[in-house]
Parts: sequence; C-alpha cells; structure tokens
Amino acid sequence: MKKVRDYYFEKAKKEKYPARSVFKLEEAQQRFKLLKKGDSVLDLGCSPGSWSIYAAKQVGATGRVVGVDLHTTQKYAFAGAAPMDLLKADIFSEDIFAKLATSRFNVVLSDMAPATTGHKFSDHQKSLELSRRALAIAAAVLLEGGNFYCKVFQGEDSGDFVDEVRQFFKKVKVVKPKSSRVESREVFVLAMHLK
Ligand SMILES: C[S@@+](CC[C@H](N)C(=O)[O-])C[C@H]1O[C@@H](n2cnc3c(N)ncnc32)[C@H](O)[C@@H]1O
Repeated sequence: MKKVRDYYFEKAKKEKYPARSVFKLEEAQQRFKLLKKGDSVLDLGCSPGSWSIYAAKQVGATGRVVGVDLHTTQKYAFAGAAPMDLLKADIFSEDIFAKLATSRFNVVLSDMAPATTGHKFSDHQKSLELSRRALAIAAAVLLEGGNFYCKVFQGEDSGDFVDEVRQFFKKVKVVKPKSSRVESREVFVLAMHLK
C-alpha cells in the first residue's frame, strides 16, 4: 500500500525524526509542559524512537530516557540531549516491573498500539490492555508529582480507563493532538501530578 505523505510526515523527515508521531508529544509538551529539564523519562512503546529522541532533547543532558519496545529501537545521540537506554522487551513480561523499578521516573509516556485487526471493539480492548498495563507501570515507577501521557483507542470502555487514571493523578485531561489523524480513534490521556 502506498504511504500517505502528509504535512507531518514531511515535517518529521525534515527535522530528522523517524516517525510523524513525534508531533503528538510535541504538541502536548508545548501546551502542558509535562517534561522538564533534568527529568527522568520512561517511554513505553518507543520504537522507532521519535518520542524518546524528543524527550531526550527536552530534558537535556542532565536528564535520562529509558525506552521499551517489542522491537529493537535504533539509538541516536545528540549534543545536549539526555542519554537513552532503549530496551527490547514486552511490557506484559513478568520481569518488567523488576527491570524498570530499579529506577524512579518523573514522566511515563506510552504511545503503545496493538497490531490492529480493523475490528473496532477488539482493537479498542487490546489498546485498553496496553494502556492499563502502562498505568500500572507508571503507578509503580513514578516519583510523587510525576506525569503520565498515554495513548488509548477510544471506545465504549475508554471512559472507565480515564476514571482509573483519575484515581492516581491530580489533573487528568483527554487530548486529541492536531497531528493525530481525524479518522484515527486514538486519543491521549494526559495525567499530571501523581498523588
Ligand atoms: C505507534 S508506535 C510508537 C511510536 C513511537 N512513539 C515513536 O514516536 O517513534 C507503537 C509501538 O508500541 C509497541 N508495542 C506494542 N505492544 C507492545 C508491548 N506489549 N510491549 C512493548 N511495546 C509494545 C509497538 O512495537 C510499536 O513500536
């Protein structure tokens, strides 16, 4: 199938990011300042690496980025950016908490998406499983006051997920970045300040 080369695809290429998804994080950062200089960031579902690169630049050399994905993620290094530690792992694996909980993070990001089938309800449920696992990981590894930004495919149970997120964070908002395709059912739950 021919790739749709839209405005954000071209912009990502020009700015040397491996995926257009970077702008879904950039927009949230510009509006809500969820990443701060010196932050430690965990990026779940990090491949091909755009969010990790963007986060590493935002938090700077005194920060740190750990990325996790089912796939190997190519590592890039930029002057003035945080070091990146990119792991190949399944977030459902039994030892994931042990692997990640050796560190504490200021921010947990999740752009994880399931392999979609085109069947709306089951794709929504699979996305919810990923988002709930991301929330459980965030609750285990975030420092007090930490932030969480997580993709979920909208559907009949996404409101329940947002309510679950509200139990952990002081401020929760559902956002649909401009760079997220209108036809896509994805939205992002932005949760600030872990209680
Ligand atoms: C939309 S891509 C992420 C793009 C990334 N944010 C970027 O900007 O480059 C979604 C990723 O979620 C990952 N993923 C899906 N299920 C996962 C799982 N169980 N464990 C780890 N990663 C997973 C996929 O392998 C895929 O690379």
